[in-house]
Amino acid sequence: MKVGVPKEIKTHEYRVGLTPGAVREYVAAGHNVLVETNAGAGIGSTDDDYRRAGATILDSARAIFASSEMIVKVKEPQPSEWVQLRENQILFTYLHLAPDPEQAKGLLKSGCTAVAYETVTDAHGGLPLLAPMSEVAGRLAIEAAGTALKRYTGGRGLLIGGVPGVQPARIVVIGGGVVGTHAARMAVGLGAEVTVIDRSIPRLRELDESFEGRVRTRFSTIDSVEEEVFAADVVIGAVLVPGASAPKLVSRKMLASMRKGSVIVDVAIDQGGCFETSHATTHAEPTYEVDGVIHYCVANMPGAVPLTSSQALNNATLPFGLALANKGFAAVLENPHLRAGLNVYRGRLTYKAVAESLGLPFSPIEQAAA
Ligand SMILES: NC(=O)c1ccc[n+]([C@@H]2O[C@H](COP(=O)([O-])OP(=O)(O)OC[C@H]3O[C@@H](n4cnc5c(N)ncnc54)[C@H](O)[C@@H]3O)[C@@H](O)[C@H]2O)c1
Repeated sequence: MKVGVPKEIKTHEYRVGLTPGAVREYVAAGHNVLVETNAGAGIGSTDDDYRRAGATILDSARAIFASSEMIVKVKEPQPSEWVQLRENQILFTYLHLAPDPEQAKGLLKSGCTAVAYETVTDAHGGLPLLAPMSEVAGRLAIEAAGTALKRYTGGRGLLIGGVPGVQPARIVVIGGGVVGTHAARMAVGLGAEVTVIDRSIPRLRELDESFEGRVRTRFSTIDSVEEEVFAADVVIGAVLVPGASAPKLVSRKMLASMRKGSVIVDVAIDQGGCFETSHATTHAEPTYEVDGVIHYCVANMPGAVPLTSSQALNNATLPFGLALANKGFAAVLENPHLRAGLNVYRGRLTYKAVAESLGLPFSPIEQAAA
């Protein structure tokens, strides 16, 4: 199959759909990979790196879209991209269609087959193509907190791990899923005093076991959140209620009782955030202050480390992408996990929750494919 990799064009997006290492795997499986010139610049991979991996370099996105049977990207297609998609062309990328009716219209009109990274599933009921970015964001959250705690950025002037004889930072992680676990791991590694709050008792049990007592765990109630947040130097927001906006667990009123110069990192901001005072920020201006509390609310945290993020994403997408390249649409019909990823097929919405959010008709795959 001819597999095309255009350069990402969304603002400040430096990741790339296929790394040179992934290209090599596709080429070894007999595919023809077409890469737009400079597509890997954000991760320091040159056109020559891609050529060495077996790719053909084309000089424009237009040439990539026109020549490829499957397009592999990172971010949802932008208006100039979706007009170039065509019937039966496979699109494999993050889509996040539910809040994006314009993109949905564009994809439906194109007639393409769109498989969304974020809805592909695994055998354990997880979302394997979302998890690597949560791992990155969770780990980055502690780095972001460390920076924001510094005095010159408005923070308390506290070193996360303290030093012998001086107490470390108290870090509270609300939500002990993928983001929360990776944030806790980094925080423990730096020597912080860490508490994880979750409303799932089985999850708290797993955390208690895997951290062997090095994190405190607490069941999520209004009381426990209040108690922990008031005593914290750093609060990481990492809750997720799938398909819904994040619950607001920390109100504006509660900020008044928090320590001045303490730091909130609201990783869940892409779902609306779990602090009432959160609003999305960018890497260019990541923080702002409310009531003396520093807020870090960057909505695309993994974009800060495109080299790590592209590799982590490619590791996860590779088997699914190869299956699509090897078998085309048949792979979607055969593999229930890829099937869960299908959002758009032949001008129909094939993912129920997305169709419901957009108020558009839903077509089960069998019906759309008939
Ligand atoms: N900002 C970014 O760049 C970025 C990057 C990756 C992920 N995210 C976001 O981070 C959030 C967390 O993602 P994840 O992959 O860790 O999700 P996850 O499903 O693995 O974990 C979410 C956890 O939140 C817990 N939870 C739900 N309601 C709760 C409540 N009321 N109190 C306490 N805990 C509660 C759940 O039990 C679960 O353990 C999501 O919104 C995700 O989209 C943001």
